[in-house]
Amino acid sequence: MRQRRRIPALVGSLLLVAAAGVACGEASAGGRVPAAEPEVRPLGRIVPVPASVTPEGEPYTLTRATRIGVDEDSAEARALGRYLAGLLRPATGFPLPVVDEAAARDGIRLRLAPDDTGLGDEGYRLASSPDGLTLTARAPAGLFRGVQTLRQQLPSAVERGTVQPGPWKVAGGTVTDTPRYAYRGAMLDVSRHFFTVDEVKRYIDQLALYKVNTLHLHLSDDQGWRIAVDSWPRLTAHGGATEVGGGPGGFYTKEQYREIVRYAAARYQEVIPEIDMPGHTNAALSSYAELNCDGVAPPPYTGVKVGFSSLCASKPVTYDFVDDVIREIAALTPGRYLHIGGDEAHSTSHADYTAFMDRVQPVVAKYGKTVVGWHQLTGATPAEGALGQYWGLDRTPAAEKERVAAAARGGTGLVLSPADRTYLDMKYTKDTPLGLSWAGYVEVRRSYDWDPDSYLAGAPASAVRGVEAPLWTETLATSSDLETMAFPRLPGIAELGWSPAASHDWETYKVRLAEQAPRFDALGIAYHRSPQVPWPAE
Ligand code: ACM
Repeated sequence: MRQRRRIPALVGSLLLVAAAGVACGEASAGGRVPAAEPEVRPLGRIVPVPASVTPEGEPYTLTRATRIGVDEDSAEARALGRYLAGLLRPATGFPLPVVDEAAARDGIRLRLAPDDTGLGDEGYRLASSPDGLTLTARAPAGLFRGVQTLRQQLPSAVERGTVQPGPWKVAGGTVTDTPRYAYRGAMLDVSRHFFTVDEVKRYIDQLALYKVNTLHLHLSDDQGWRIAVDSWPRLTAHGGATEVGGGPGGFYTKEQYREIVRYAAARYQEVIPEIDMPGHTNAALSSYAELNCDGVAPPPYTGVKVGFSSLCASKPVTYDFVDDVIREIAALTPGRYLHIGGDEAHSTSHADYTAFMDRVQPVVAKYGKTVVGWHQLTGATPAEGALGQYWGLDRTPAAEKERVAAAARGGTGLVLSPADRTYLDMKYTKDTPLGLSWAGYVEVRRSYDWDPDSYLAGAPASAVRGVEAPLWTETLATSSDLETMAFPRLPGIAELGWSPAASHDWETYKVRLAEQAPRFDALGIAYHRSPQVPWPAE
């Protein structure tokens, strides 16, 4: 197919769907399913859908002779070249040497063009023809996002760990792509169940494929404290030794945590650590009797109730504790943000909650970080520059929504995580074995089919910094459990965060999502075969 015109992504993908003869119909039993993967995936038929796609000419073919060219003066570009080679070598079996750009004229080139301001911090351009494939970005993060596009344009078998037959073709043309929102997050609760460094890295890699740029780690809760704090060692020695259901729990040493942060940074993801307070603190209260108003340490907690614990807002030692914890965690955090929770403080009076937040937020600033809090923080006085993470539901009382909207009008930035849309731990239907249902059932379409800019009435679109998909782990204990709930809803939230509003369309999205199935399989990602999606036959 030759097209020189620049076509909007949505129209483009509709044309491409038609051209490829892929079914858009209902996926109910007996419904049509997409044909087997084509040898050349139409340009832009990926998740998240790119902002602009111009198919043109013949494909680029990766061969045994292909070199990956980078600007050798840039350490980040060299690292990106090695990362790309590492992705492509196992399945292609090609050597794919990483060389200086000038030596890779007909290969894959990763080019940094600092003056290409139109591409922003994370945008990229991919140009593919039989003569070569060039990724251009203003910054390394953009090259990394572009590499994910290149990866998805190749056959899914490229994700396999053993040599596959190929051929390895990328459709000809140009993709020019920038994100809709700067904040595209996922949260992992490592407190209710502990997940090892390797399990967290596995999730980071899955997020990277969908251009997520923020990993929020929920590091403390009633059931477990997961990050070493040298000045309060019982937090991990005692508070880290439990989890939901009575398992052994666990925690990250500082070096292990730094390793997570480094691994995420190499995938251009910023890690936001969350220490939830003043509620959700039983693990801390159980570790140190003096943090309790009555001076008595409660036993460890391995159930799934919420709202029963609180730091003691009236005790000076509480603020010594908070200062130490925030200081040590800020020192482990190259990113801008530190999340202080603030949700479900049902055992803290409103006066105490407000007083606590008035004292704690300046501590975050003192250690050079910006506050993020769950949206209950808007019931106190959010600090200058703070982000509020909205996790309400359609049925959340109007007054609570308006309080958040008013804070947004007053300058508090919003991250949208509506629980009945983005909570990846909600069951898909009543028959989903894992997960919870307090926010209702959240099928794949429901999680994708909403608009962040207009979601919260009265909140200006300019306040919406982006979206985040939280994954709470009361019922989830393994990577396979995480994946079954995250996939396939996570790619939909990632697309809401990345792709232009004008491209939003369930009918075309569900076809592109279905086409991810062989990629999930190749990567060993467990996923839920929702009947709303026209999956290829197994
Ligand atoms: C939350 O789900 N309690 C933030």
